[in-house]
Amino acid sequence: MKRGKFITLEGIDGAGKSTQLIWIVELLQREGLTVTVTREPGGTPLGEQLRTLLLDKSIAMHAETEALLMFAARREHLDKVITPALTMGKWVISDRFTDASFAYQGGGRGLDIQKLEILEQWTQGALQPDLTLYFDVPVELGQQRVSQVKDADRFEKEQAGFFQRVRAAYLYRANQFPGRIKIIDSSQTVVEVKAAVEQILTNLLNHD
Ligand code: TYD
Repeated sequence: MKRGKFITLEGIDGAGKSTQLIWIVELLQREGLTVTVTREPGGTPLGEQLRTLLLDKSIAMHAETEALLMFAARREHLDKVITPALTMGKWVISDRFTDASFAYQGGGRGLDIQKLEILEQWTQGALQPDLTLYFDVPVELGQQRVSQVKDADRFEKEQAGFFQRVRAAYLYRANQFPGRIKIIDSSQTVVEVKAAVEQILTNLLNHD
């Protein structure tokens, strides 16, 4: 059985990745692929409970506790969902993965990157996504989009400076891993963003 591909979507809150997710799945299914859609933190019963704690704005926690819970949820997610699906030949699309820990806990909270690398190695070994779509938007635009949609969670209620650091960390990582992480200018219209994503996915499918 040919192993499936692992695609992750990243961006600051309000970057528009959830809108794109829906038709990315449709595009892959039209190609005859079986797709597992999942998210982080979450994706398993335990992970979803950890997500509830992590997003609850009434709960304060140390930045390292936050990082450890993110990776704990991820360990479970890999074991129960991601690895089994890939092994069965399914394609896995995850709304966020480890780049979010480097961006939010590393960039946003200022945690030591080497500690995050240790957790990454412990949690996933050499496994990395085959492709990461990073939806890039200026912080003001992201914040504007979030405030229109819903009540802010524990991350979304952070100030602009936090998201500037998150965005800078994402861009830094995208430059560090240009083969895997593709930057998409998500300040364009939905149709333009969709076209950009389609081109990247077509490329991946052609090289599969
Ligand atoms: P998000 O994926 O944006 O979901 P929704 O669109 O429902 O708000 O919410 C998850 C939040 O968790 C987001 O603010 C980023 C944060 N996060 C981290 O800080 N570190 C991580 O490792 C992950 C996976 C997410």
